[in-house]
Amino acid sequence: MKAIVVTDQAAGTAGVKLVERPAAQAAINDVVVQVHASGFTGDELTWPSTWTDRGGRDRTPSIPGHELAGVVTALGYGTTGLSIGQRVFGLTDWYRDGTLAEYVAVEARNLAPLPGDVDFTVGAALVMPGLTAWQGLFEHGRLRAGQSVLVHGAAGVVGSMASQLATWLPSTMRLLPSTGPSGSRERRSSVFIREDRGLPKRPRRLQFTRLGPTTESVSRFTHHSTIKEQM
Ligand SMILES: NC(=O)c1ccc[n+]([C@@H]2O[C@H](COP(=O)([O-])OP(=O)(O)OC[C@H]3O[C@@H](n4cnc5c(N)ncnc54)[C@H](OP(=O)(O)O)[C@@H]3O)[C@@H](O)[C@H]2O)c1
Repeated sequence: MKAIVVTDQAAGTAGVKLVERPAAQAAINDVVVQVHASGFTGDELTWPSTWTDRGGRDRTPSIPGHELAGVVTALGYGTTGLSIGQRVFGLTDWYRDGTLAEYVAVEARNLAPLPGDVDFTVGAALVMPGLTAWQGLFEHGRLRAGQSVLVHGAAGVVGSMASQLATWLPSTMRLLPSTGPSGSRERRSSVFIREDRGLPKRPRRLQFTRLGPTTESVSRFTHHSTIKEQM
């Protein structure tokens, strides 16, 4: 099968090559997926898992990319829950060959059915930011119905997912943030929100006292620990 591989960490993206690789084989509980769309994170070339297996042994040439959408073409021994011909999307294990290839072997538990009316490209693009937003809101932030949440950078990929997931809880306030006019960091850190249910009649301007990675920020903001109300 055709695949994109990397062999030399020092070479960075200049070392990326399109080559012929042996066909992907389904191990126990795996499926093989014919990849219709896949995603690649630039940072992957700095992740140890791109270059070694879990034992720290060199696993190059390795195939990067971990997000995918495609069609199941083979089932490994003992694989349940998916069937040949099924449309799926998901994430592959960081330590295994990835999705920049015609086919990929992936554990069935790391895939979900992709509805027929969702494009493969949309499915592949959804996985990583969707998981990131989910973890930020519900695992790290422990968001529950009735709490409010502030999504920082809501116009971005993770932020737009978080905004949609946050409104999924019935009592959660709906926030409509913007990064504001370009300019100083302080200005860009300002957001305007309007609450769907109840209280303030006008948008409140909030200012972050500290910026951090999105998932941490969502977690902190959920608990209102770093927000200073301006108006
Ligand atoms: N995408 C993923 O799958 C993924 C997975 C894990 C972690 N992450 C992390 O999550 C964060 C967001 O990633 P993303 O993919 O959603 O990026 P993105 O699509 O580029 O979105 C970033 C958002 O943040 C806003 N922003 C940037 N600098 C800002 C500042 N100084 N003040 C206020 N807003 C600012 C941007 O606004 P403008 O458009 O106005 O610039 C944009 O809306 C990053 O830290 C990334 O490393 C992403």
